Amino acid sequence: MTKVVVVNGPNLGRLGVRQPDVYGKQDLDALRRLCAEWGRDLGLDVEVRQSDDEAEMIGWMHQAADEKTPVVMNPAAFTHYSYGLADAAHMVIDEGLPLMEVHISNPSARDEFRKRSVISPVATGTITGMGFYGYKLALDAVAHLLESE
Ligand code: DQA
Repeated sequence: MTKVVVVNGPNLGRLGVRQPDVYGKQDLDALRRLCAEWGRDLGLDVEVRQSDDEAEMIGWMHQAADEKTPVVMNPAAFTHYSYGLADAAHMVIDEGLPLMEVHISNPSARDEFRKRSVISPVATGTITGMGFYGYKLALDAVAHLLESE
């Protein structure tokens, strides 16, 4: 089975308790279970990670590039300002690997600072505003892109 890493950024470890009206009532473990299940159906071995640390997330991009692992990433607040993470995401793309950006909410419909993503210009594609289902769509897109290679 092809491995895919699903990388979640800062404060997403607080899913379920953090603004449930915006991010839903399900926690990160529920997301882990769902992604594993969706991945199995698509023939993908999905590993869900979360970090509040920019350096750790950048390290995961380097690892994905080196190990040729496709990425689904919700960069959370780093979306809006981390050029370091954007450069690291570029390294994944440079290896010819899919990197799908996901947001649970629709950042464009929220605060002004959320309207800009420094990751979107680098990502293969972006899915926003679909809740956890967005990760399913992103995994589906990864499977599709791998099949059409
Ligand atoms: C988010 C949107 C970001 O603006 C925010 O900082 C997050 C979560 C989302 O999934 O909707 O932490 O990426």
